[in-house]
Amino acid sequence: MPEQRFSLFSGKAPSMDSLAFRLAGAAEAVRQVAAGRSLPDAIQSTCQDLHADAASRGAIQDIAYNAMRKLGTARFLTGRLTKRPPEPEILQHLLICAFTLLLQADGSSLRYEPFTTVNQAVLAASSIRGAAKAKGMVNAVLRNFLRGKDGFLQQAAEDGTARWNYPAWWIAQVQEHYPDQWQSILTVGNNAPPLTLRVNRRRSSTDSYLALLQESGISADIIGPYAVRLAHPMPVHRIPGFKEGLVSVQDYAAQLAAPLLGLKDGMRVLDACAAPGGKSAHMLELADIRLTALDCEEKRLAMIHQNLDRLGLHADVRLGDATQSDWWDGRLFDCILADVPCSASGIIRRHPDIRWLRQPDDGKRLAALSAAILDNLWKKLRKDGKLLFATCSIWPEESIGQADFFAFRSDAKRLDAFGQLLPTFNGLNDHDGLFYGLFQKIG
Ligand SMILES: C[S@@+](CC[C@H](N)C(=O)[O-])C[C@H]1O[C@@H](n2cnc3c(N)ncnc32)[C@H](O)[C@@H]1O
Repeated sequence: MPEQRFSLFSGKAPSMDSLAFRLAGAAEAVRQVAAGRSLPDAIQSTCQDLHADAASRGAIQDIAYNAMRKLGTARFLTGRLTKRPPEPEILQHLLICAFTLLLQADGSSLRYEPFTTVNQAVLAASSIRGAAKAKGMVNAVLRNFLRGKDGFLQQAAEDGTARWNYPAWWIAQVQEHYPDQWQSILTVGNNAPPLTLRVNRRRSSTDSYLALLQESGISADIIGPYAVRLAHPMPVHRIPGFKEGLVSVQDYAAQLAAPLLGLKDGMRVLDACAAPGGKSAHMLELADIRLTALDCEEKRLAMIHQNLDRLGLHADVRLGDATQSDWWDGRLFDCILADVPCSASGIIRRHPDIRWLRQPDDGKRLAALSAAILDNLWKKLRKDGKLLFATCSIWPEESIGQADFFAFRSDAKRLDAFGQLLPTFNGLNDHDGLFYGLFQKIG
C-alpha cells in the first residue's frame, strides 16, 4: 500500500536503507513525542506507517533514542541557528535528529561522517511532504553549525537544559533533593543502559550461564546473585537460552525486589501492580508460591502471560484495580509486592523521553494514587506478613514520603530494605534508581 507507506513523504521516498529515510522516520517519532506521545509508541506507529524493515526500525529507534538524550542541546542549536521556528514543524525535528548525529563526536568515532549526515538530512527534507523548499535552509543550518561548532557548543554549555539535556524544573528538583549527587544522577540518565539479564535459577546459574555465553563468544559480567550484564546489548532473539526461559531481561536494581520478601514454598503472595511480570517471575523462580498477579491494564496482562509461559512458571493472573477489592477472594496474603505506578524518574536511561513528557506536579498526583493502593493492600496482608513497597522513582514524595505512610500506623514495623537506590554506573555497580521499603504487620 504505497500511499500509506510513504504518507510522511511526497512523491518518491528515499530508499529504506538510506540514512535520509531513517532520519525522516526518527524526526517523525520525535515530533510525536513533542506532541505528548511516548517514544516507544511513536516509533511503533511511525515504523508501521513507513513499513520499515527490521534494520530501518533499529536505526530509527537508535537515532530517536539518542535525540531524546541530546534534545536540550539539539533544541538550543536549532534556536541559535534558525531565524524563526522552521516550518513545516517536522523540519525542527529533522534538524534535531541531524544535530544528534553530528554531536556523536564526543570522545568516540562518529557513526556517520558529518558530510553524510548533512547530505542525507537535505535529502530527507527534499522528500518530506511540504518540506522540499526548505532543503536549502537545512543545508545552511547544518553547515553553519559545523563551521562554528566549538563556539556553539560553548554557548550550549552555559545553558542548563542544553548542557544537561533535562528540562530546567527536572534539574532543579534533582539538585534540591540530591545536592551532592545531582551531576552523577543526571549523567547516568544520559547513558544508554546496559542489557542486564536475570538468570532463572530453576534452569541455570550465573556461572553456568556465563560459560554458555562464553561458548557463543559473548562477553559478559556477573553483577549480582542472579544478574549477568552483557558487554554489548543485543536483540533478545539472539540471547542464548532466552527463548528457552534460561534468562529474562531485568535491571539489577529490579532484581533486588523478590529476595527481600523471604519467600517460602506454599506462601500466598500478591503482586499488586504486576505487568509486565518481571518481579512476579522472579518471585516464582525463588520459591513454590501461590501468586496472584494483578494489573489494571488488560493489554498488559498478556505480557505477564507471555513472560511466565516462556519461563515455565504459573500465576493466577487477574485484571483488577489495586485501590479496589472486587478482584479479591477475601483470603489474606502472606506477602504483598506493591510496585506502584510512578513518574519513572529513576529509569531515565531506559526511557529517555520521560523527562520531556512529565510535568512538575506529576509526582504529587502519582503519590496520591500509590497512597490509595497502599492503604487498600495493607488490609489484605495477614499479621506478621510483609509488604514490599517499590517505585522506580527518585522523587522523595513518591518514595520515602510514601513510606512514611507506615510510620503513622501502629500495626506496621519497618524492616531493613534498600531505601532509595540512586541510578549508578560504576564498574560492576550498575543499576537504575529504585526505592524499596519493607513493612511487617504487627499487633
Ligand atoms: C512499575 S509497573 C510494574 C512493573 C512490574 N512490577 C514488573 O516488575 O515487571 C506498574 C504497573 O502498575 C499498573 N497499575 C497502575 N495503576 C494500577 C492500579 N490502580 N491497580 C493495579 N495496577 C495498576 C500499571 O498498569 C503497570 O503495569
